[in-house]
Order: sequence, then structure tokens, then C-alpha cells
Amino acid sequence: MTRATRPERRIDAQTLWRKDHDHLIHPFTHFPTFEKEGALVIEKGEGAYVFDVEGRRYMDGIAGIWCVNIGHGNEEIAARIADQARRLAFFNTFTDTTNPPAAELAAELARLAPSHLNRVFFDTGGSAANDTTVRTLHFYFNRLGKPRKKKLISRINAYHGSSYLTMALTGKVEDHTGFDLPKDLVHYVSCPDPYRRPDGVSLEAYCDQLVVELEQKILELGPENVAAFFAEPIMGAGGVIVPPPGYHRRTQEVCRRHDVLTVSDEVVTAFGRLGHMFSSEAAFGLEPDVITCAKGLTSGYVPLGASLFSDQIYDVISSTGPEPDADTGWFNHGFTYSGHALCCAAALANIEIIERDGICEHVREVGPYFEKRLASLEDLPLVGNVRGSHFMLCVESVADKRTKELLPASVGIGKRIADHCEQRGLIVRPMGHLNVISPPLILSREQIDELVDILGASIRATADDLVREGLWH
Ligand SMILES: Cc1ncc(COP(=O)(O)O)c(C=O)c1O
Repeated sequence: MTRATRPERRIDAQTLWRKDHDHLIHPFTHFPTFEKEGALVIEKGEGAYVFDVEGRRYMDGIAGIWCVNIGHGNEEIAARIADQARRLAFFNTFTDTTNPPAAELAAELARLAPSHLNRVFFDTGGSAANDTTVRTLHFYFNRLGKPRKKKLISRINAYHGSSYLTMALTGKVEDHTGFDLPKDLVHYVSCPDPYRRPDGVSLEAYCDQLVVELEQKILELGPENVAAFFAEPIMGAGGVIVPPPGYHRRTQEVCRRHDVLTVSDEVVTAFGRLGHMFSSEAAFGLEPDVITCAKGLTSGYVPLGASLFSDQIYDVISSTGPEPDADTGWFNHGFTYSGHALCCAAALANIEIIERDGICEHVREVGPYFEKRLASLEDLPLVGNVRGSHFMLCVESVADKRTKELLPASVGIGKRIADHCEQRGLIVRPMGHLNVISPPLILSREQIDELVDILGASIRATADDLVREGLWH
């Protein structure tokens, strides 16, 4: 029975469901399915669990959506947000004014980030952070007297946001369907997907090919026209793609050779998900010119993003040139909520909790166990690949393990598995033939077992359904 017609819902649950169904436009929604099923109303969260409006408990296998790193219902962060709201929720940072949490947080991020990234611009989320970065890098090259250096290189399957500009950076071409994009601004190179690399090619040779492809793309566009290369350390929404070893270091070398800046989009990978506050340098040996972050910065308690710029970029954008006059020295960019006091206070509390409770250490300790337990699902006939790192993981379903052939999209395999998980009290994210697992970082080993057991049972149940329906054998 679809959610639309479940008779057991209490009246207030039904009413809420109806209000949402009739009025709220959800992001990234398949309208015909939504029309039939509506949305699960999540009403409360505690630690690694959330509860729907009818009181059913689910393990949150996706941390809200890659966000709630310290877990739900944390009293400490709630109290800090409330204190800040009472003291000063908001005052702008435009008119030569600032506020204590914004100043403190900028300094904290400079402390935590690689040592050359000391200048922080606050945004309202991840898309805005990437938007800010593009505008700022264009400004930077204008300042350097290189106004043609504007093109951006991204990767197929990358996800960098959903604003007009960042959806162009997003290389999930299926997400572009029916929308417009800015013309000739963003160019794409291949997704570095070891599982789907060409047959018979070693990981090393595959990495060589990807590095050569990037260099060729820069040369084809003309290095004098290319501003920056955007990359997530591990692709998230594109399918939790861990690139081959050395990929980030080597693509950075190519970029440096051609005066192309590197932007590491750490919207998902920062604040503990891979066991480090920032993972670019700590996990991948990358020294990007810019890091963008959001989500885990406040553990999703309130919206906030940030763009962290190198000293070198700041020196250029803030320079007034040899003969400063009234027209130079201005940086005309910003959002009303840049440096929002309440959001920055939440981030400060969140960082304190992550550090004090040793959450990065916990992720580094239990992450390999999580990877190993989840990898055991590769024994199931429907599972082609289990991949990811620490608390950023994914299961890829296939019709045929040997050929890696996919089931037809109409089967909706990821959604079927997610629905079975939901019935068993676990939320995982379906994405086509993938199921993404990215829970709060506080999961114990026992809770990891619980998650993997439910997911395994759900995949087995889905396989039985497919056989029964004649969709798979
Ligand atoms: C890597 C990455 N960058 C950027 C974004 C966009 O962030 P937001 O949805 O906060 O705008 C996301 C969102 O999932 C993301 O995963």
C-alpha cells in the first residue's frame, strides 16, 4: 500500500502529510512518485535515530543527508544556538560590522584547514560556497589582468550544488535535463571510477589515463582560458567514487603546471566523515587553493557554508594596485546571512564537540570495521560493488556481477532496497542503482552491525521480489 492511502495514520499525521503533499515542492523529486506516495514525515531525532510523526523509529543511515555528524538531538549545540539567539541572532557583516561567533569561527577554520588557507568567506550552504568560489576566482583573474581565464573544469558525476552556476559544475548530466546551463563555462573530464574502469586496465594505468585526459582538456581549452579545476575528494552524490591512489596529487600537479587553481569541495568530506576535520591534505595529500565546506560544519543544525581561500588568492583580491582610487579595493559579493551569528555559534559548538568527544578518532578507529562489514554484502548475488571510505559508503546493485550490467532503470532497484530498509527501521538513500550509507559519525560497532544486517536483509528481500516478479533470475 502506498503512503498516500495508509489508513492507520493518526489525524494530525495525515493532516501534516497532506499539507506537505499539497504545498511543498521537494528538491530532486520524481513528481509522479511523489504524487502517489508523498513524503515520510520525520519529526524527532535522538543520536543515530530519527522518529516519524507516528512514532516509528529508524536508524538514520544518511545523517539527515551527509550532515548530522554529531548525531540528532544534541542538547549542547541546541543550548548554544538558543543562547546566541537570545544574545544576538543576527547582525550583518556588510557595514564594517562583525560579531563574535563569526570572527571566532573564521579563526577556527583557519586553524583547522591546511596552513595556507587562512581567509574565510561565509556562505549559506554548499552551493553558495561553490558559487562564491567561482565568482571570487573570476575576480582574482580579472585583478591579475587575465580576464580570459574563466573556464572551469569539473568531472562527470561530480555534485557541486544546485544553483544556476553550481548545477553547471555538477557533472551529473541527468540532473541537467530540462534546465538551462550557462554556455561554455564548464567543461567535463571523466569520472574516476575504479569499479567501472575499462576491462584489463590496472588501477595505475587508469590513473595515468585520467591525469593525461585532464592535461589534454586544459591544453584543448587553452591554459590561458582555464581558471580552476573543481573536485570532491570522494565524489558523494555521484556514487561515492573513491579515485585511484595518487589521483588528487597528480591532477594537482597538472593544474599547477598550467596555472589552473584547484578547488576541493569538502561539503561532504569535512568535519569527520573520513576521520579528519578536512580530508584534502590529511587523507589525499592535496593542497588545494580553495576548500569549500558546509553540512557537517554545523552538523546540519542550522544552515552554513564556507569558502576557505589561500593567502595568495586573498593577497590578489584584496590588493588595490599601485594607485588605489575609489573604484579599487571593493569586493562586491556577499549574502545577507554571510557570518550569521547564530549559525557561526552552532558551528563553534559543533567543532568543540567533534574535538572534545574524539569523533574523528572514533571514525578512524571504527571506519575500517564499517567498510569491512559492509563489504561482506558483496557476497550477495545482486551486489556488484561496495565502496567508499570510513562513514561515506555505497552499495552498487547489478543485474550481472560478471559483466556489471545494470538492471533497467524502470526496476528502481535502489528505491526498492531503500523501501525494504525503511520497513525494517533504517533509512538509506536510493540513487538509481545505488544505495548510499553516510550515517552520523557516532555509530558504535553494534549499531554498524545493526545497519549492515538490516541492509543485507533488505537486499535479500528485494532480490526475492525481483525473482517473484520475473524481473531478475
Ligand atoms: C559535494 C557537494 N557540494 C555541494 C553541495 C551543495 O550543498 P547545498 O545543498 O548545501 O547547497 C553538496 C550537497 O549535497 C555536495 O554534496
